[in-house]
Amino acid sequence: MSFANLIDGRAIAGQIHDETTQRITALKARGVQPGLAFVRVGEDPASKVYVGRKEKACAQLGIFSETHVLPQATTEADLLALLGRLNVNERIHGILVQAPLPTHFRATVVYSTVLPQKDVDGFHPVNVGKLMLGDPTGFWPCTPMGVRELLIRSQVKIEGADIVVLGRGNIVGKPMAAMLCQKGRHANATVTLCHSQTRDLGAHCRRANILIAAMGVPEFVKADMVKPGTVVMDVGVNRVNDPKATNGYRLVGDVEFAQVQPLAGKITPNPGGVGPMTIAMLMQNTVRAAELSLNLNN
Ligand code: GUN
Repeated sequence: MSFANLIDGRAIAGQIHDETTQRITALKARGVQPGLAFVRVGEDPASKVYVGRKEKACAQLGIFSETHVLPQATTEADLLALLGRLNVNERIHGILVQAPLPTHFRATVVYSTVLPQKDVDGFHPVNVGKLMLGDPTGFWPCTPMGVRELLIRSQVKIEGADIVVLGRGNIVGKPMAAMLCQKGRHANATVTLCHSQTRDLGAHCRRANILIAAMGVPEFVKADMVKPGTVVMDVGVNRVNDPKATNGYRLVGDVEFAQVQPLAGKITPNPGGVGPMTIAMLMQNTVRAAELSLNLNN
């Protein structure tokens, strides 16, 4: 693709990986290799792909990683016991339990069991609370953090902007809104959080300077919902049936890209926009967890 208004998530993630690699080198000089444990329950095909990509990034950057795959029928007690062992494992600085979990798990109990200082996903209530309070000592969830970083590194002004976030999920929508309305640098935006019950959604979207689509509905955002010049960030990853594709489906975002791209001030392609940034932020959080462990131990 060669559109002038594209935000190249792969290139920006590459810059961040370079910065993270320098920090890893410094840590290794002090005798510490950052370590990240992945926990995946069941055989959700998308989760397998995501964890595979994260493992690969660890290997490329020199982060130690180990993956624990538990059967779908694993009990909550067994999962909590594994997390307890990882919490006290000194080789492991970050723990990631891939979502979604099978429905017989209580997600809040599981995510509360990961020690906050190893919670590189930012899902523990302590880290969620710190984000809400504007306390920078916590970990922030990787995908919204990646969206914010893309805006910053693409010179999109967040301060004072009207930002509409579509979707109120715990992984993206809610933390995204919290980050952007924060009092502070690269924040101070006026944020509207829209969802399936929002009245006249199009009117909200058309007011936005920055529109962030994270509701998981294939190609929901159409051209008539976007004011010319708006910066459009597409977080969606949706499988839609496609008899012509070899595997029977193709992946599309939450934005009807072909329609919206010509209007947008800037726009993330999908794939190649937000996705690589989630991984870059995870690597960064893991390295930060390792750095913090060093400070705690000295
Ligand atoms: N599933 C979709 N996004 C994420 C994420 O950022 N972290 C985890 N653990 N699971 C996810």
